[in-house]
Amino acid sequence: MANSPSGESVTERLLRVLETFTPTRTVQTASEIGRRAGLPSSTAHRFIGELVQTGLLEIDEGRRVRVGMRLWELATRSSAALRLRQAAMPAMERVQARIGEHTQLAILEQDEALFLERLSSPDATSNVTRIAGRLPLHASSSGLVLLAFGAAELQERVLAGPLVALTRATITDPAALRRKLAEIRRLGHVVAPGYIEDVATGLAVPVRDRVGVVAALSVIIERHAPVEPGLDALHRAARDIHSRLDS
Ligand code: PHB
Repeated sequence: MANSPSGESVTERLLRVLETFTPTRTVQTASEIGRRAGLPSSTAHRFIGELVQTGLLEIDEGRRVRVGMRLWELATRSSAALRLRQAAMPAMERVQARIGEHTQLAILEQDEALFLERLSSPDATSNVTRIAGRLPLHASSSGLVLLAFGAAELQERVLAGPLVALTRATITDPAALRRKLAEIRRLGHVVAPGYIEDVATGLAVPVRDRVGVVAALSVIIERHAPVEPGLDALHRAARDIHSRLDS
C-alpha cells in the first residue's frame, strides 16, 4: 500500500485517525482530528473526505465528524466478540434483573480489559465503565480475573509495572498483586473493593468456553454492600454462558 512522504502507510494513518475517537470524544471537527492525529491540515481534510466517501466516517450539517455506521457494521458482523456477547446476553439479563446493578462483559485486549457489553439501571451504583471502553487489568475486577487466568507472560508483563493507583485501595505492590491473582484462581472469583473508585466494589468471575477463559463477567455494587448475592448470580451466569458456548 502506498506510503506517505513521512513513510507512514495508509493503514497506519487510518488507525491514527480512528484512534482520535474515544468513548468520551465521539464527535470532532476535521481540524481537531488532524491535530490529534498529527496530520497536516490539508492532508487531514483530504483523508477524512475519503473516509467519509466510503462511510467509515460520517459528517453532519455542522461539519462534525463521527465514526460511521459502516465501520461498526463491518467490525461487528464477523467478530468473535459478537458470538460471545450473544451467548452471554440472556444470562447477563438475569444477573441484571436479580442484582439491579451494572452487569458487564469484558475480554482481554492488548493488556487491558475491553468491555463488550454493559447493562445498567437508572438507580445503579456509580460506574466508570463504557461499552468499547477499557480498564486496567490490575485495577478492575474484570481485569483481575482476565489477568489471573491469563498467560504467564501477560502476568509477568503486568507485574513488572507500572501498577498505577486509581484510588488508595488499588493494588500497586507486585507481591500483593501476585497473592491476589492466586486467590482469584483458588476462589474462582474476585472481590475488588474500591480499586477503581472509592464508592464501588467490583465482583467478577471467569467465563469459559471449551478451551479456556474467554471473558470476565462482573457486577459493580456499592462499596459496602453484601457481595454474596452478586457472586452467586455471577457464578450461575458463567455456567449458563459456558454451556451456550459449548453447544
Ligand atoms: C471494577 O470492575 O472493579 C469496577 C469497574 C468500574 C467501576 C468500579 C469498579 O466504576
